[in-house]
Amino acid sequence: MGGFFCINMISVVAQTPTLTLDFTKPGATVSPMLYGLMTEEINHSYDGGLYPELIRNRIFKDNKNNPEAWTLVRNDSASKASIKLIAAAQENVPFDERRHAINGALTTCLRLTVEKPGGRIGIANEGYWGIPVKPSTTYNASFYMKGSGSFQPPRRQGQTPPANPALVIADSTAGPITVSIESNDGKTVYASGTINLVKSIYWKKYEVTLTTAADVKPTADARFVISTNRTGLYYFNLVSLFPPTYNNRPNGNRPDLIKMMADMKPKFLRFPGGNYLEGPLITDAFPWKTTLGPLENRPGHKGSWGYRASDGMGLLEFLLWCEDINAEPLLGVYAGYSLDGDHIDAGPLLKPYVDDALDEIEYIIGDVNTYWGAKRVADGHPAPFKLTYVEIGNEDWFDRSNSYDGRFNQFRTAIEAKYPHLKCISTIADAQYPNQKVTTGKKPEILDEHYYRDAWAMWENANQYDKYDRNGPKIFVGEWATREGAPTTNLNAALGDAAWMTGMERNSDHIIMSCYAPLFVNVNTATATAPKAWQWDSDLIGYNALSSYGSPAYYVQKLFGNLLGDKIVPVTSENIPTQPRPLTRRDSTNGIKTAPLVPTVFYSATQDEKYGMIYLKLVNTTAKKQPVNININGIAKILPAAEMYVIKGNKPEDTNSITEPEKIVPVKSTIKGVAAKFKRTLDAYSVSIIQLQAVK
Ligand code: AHR
Repeated sequence: MGGFFCINMISVVAQTPTLTLDFTKPGATVSPMLYGLMTEEINHSYDGGLYPELIRNRIFKDNKNNPEAWTLVRNDSASKASIKLIAAAQENVPFDERRHAINGALTTCLRLTVEKPGGRIGIANEGYWGIPVKPSTTYNASFYMKGSGSFQPPRRQGQTPPANPALVIADSTAGPITVSIESNDGKTVYASGTINLVKSIYWKKYEVTLTTAADVKPTADARFVISTNRTGLYYFNLVSLFPPTYNNRPNGNRPDLIKMMADMKPKFLRFPGGNYLEGPLITDAFPWKTTLGPLENRPGHKGSWGYRASDGMGLLEFLLWCEDINAEPLLGVYAGYSLDGDHIDAGPLLKPYVDDALDEIEYIIGDVNTYWGAKRVADGHPAPFKLTYVEIGNEDWFDRSNSYDGRFNQFRTAIEAKYPHLKCISTIADAQYPNQKVTTGKKPEILDEHYYRDAWAMWENANQYDKYDRNGPKIFVGEWATREGAPTTNLNAALGDAAWMTGMERNSDHIIMSCYAPLFVNVNTATATAPKAWQWDSDLIGYNALSSYGSPAYYVQKLFGNLLGDKIVPVTSENIPTQPRPLTRRDSTNGIKTAPLVPTVFYSATQDEKYGMIYLKLVNTTAKKQPVNININGIAKILPAAEMYVIKGNKPEDTNSITEPEKIVPVKSTIKGVAAKFKRTLDAYSVSIIQLQAVK
């Protein structure tokens, strides 16, 4: 018998909650794809995150007005030098300055003009909130460069002479140039190398490796510098500095972040977004074709979160990322609706977009005899990737024109005709947007639902899937999160997430896939030269240039993904305690005046049939310890000792951060006295997973 508590001024005796795991009835099958990951370029997830290129604005297109992230290095005030963006397509620049494109992608370059050296002169890049310096580390530096000296701008007949007369500078660009990683004040050089520039007015690629010493102290207070002491006009493009990558793959991924994801054992990766798939305008949709091949061919694109994407993380890199973490790709294809609200009508106008999606799928799974399959082979991946799920668009409920019905059907019909094994996901869920759902054509097999809620709403709705009609379409919870805490979420959010996940897990015969969003956040705040790194509060994994950490919710998801059986164990409950949730503005709009009661204990159980392992997940959302009776029916014998993992904290606001990365992590212990009936007391503010062993 528990203590007393008071609801609405009526004192009642709190009975100890009892959970009965019933093995007498066959449980439904847990979806083998239940837990996955969702990603997009937001919060500097790729540039400044997983994609480890260290040079920010490497092709000088981030800002057409100034060379963002680049500065002039000039040690002697008597020297005369400057840097300037030269955009091939810019109007109002002298004719000669329009001729500096390397190709159609690399159309803007940076010119370093050295009229009088007086010591070293160079260009410096600040990186993504610093350049990470780590001991015994080799970085690959490269850039395109061409040099010249004074010039007389050639003019076409009738063209007015440029305002500035010709520069008169000796072309001394040929010779040694220094490439270094150094402190921001230039006083400490962490690694440096020399490149011998040849005399050339044509673009040439240069490469050098830079290695730090074993005793260097890790720091991100560093910059990348290319410097000279000779006069001339130095033109630069595609300046790159790559640290070691996961499995040393060229253009590969940041190792610590891959490890964190792989540790979660995700079954799929939903990419490329999210809003990032759609783009602000129809012309800004994820341009997968120009994200393929050599970096020289990638112009980058606008992105959806206020900064330009380098597209170093292109379609092939997404697919290789899936391989890195042993997950299946879940491809979102652009479906003709963008964030400004414009859409393309179903019918002939939409056909090119449908064809584009078919091309994209062909790149992923087509064989060598197909046009796009052959491109993938040429890009170094002969084997087709595995692909089962294709999502048509993203959050098309925002499309107030209700055009999704026609657009979805046109995409689905074409995709299924060519690839009958593929399953198309509708982005409009019946439960969330009943008035906008797809009604014509075949009923969608899978619907994507999105939920961003606070912890109260998660607790209140954690049982929503218990009531879903099993004859309806399967559910993919393609974005969800408890949004409390920033930049990464806190313990209370983890308690909301865990409760929500017990609901998905209990119903994982019907909720076949789920993925939290957003996954990543660069946690840097604004500096004098760079803006705050993130646009979306409440993210799962945080990092800066040097290190990374998981939020409490990360550890909840990692445990839930790792400790999951293949059969759902039916569980009945009695005396689940409740608490009143605060009234909200929506309550008042809906005329609700009495605080609804929400449970404080949440649970789910699954069993690994082959090994007899039972995973019992328990959540206590309150400040009080919570005893729970556990009954196990229908199992002949259970081992008396069980392993238990607990994630907990002292208060809901407790959190992990870049400076305190492991404040809240799972603690593993062995508990004794497990039997057909036993009692556990759950810690305050805790998520517990008990791994029981049935003896066959
Ligand atoms: O996860 C952040 C954004 O939330 C996604 O880009 C979008 O799909 C949703 O609205």
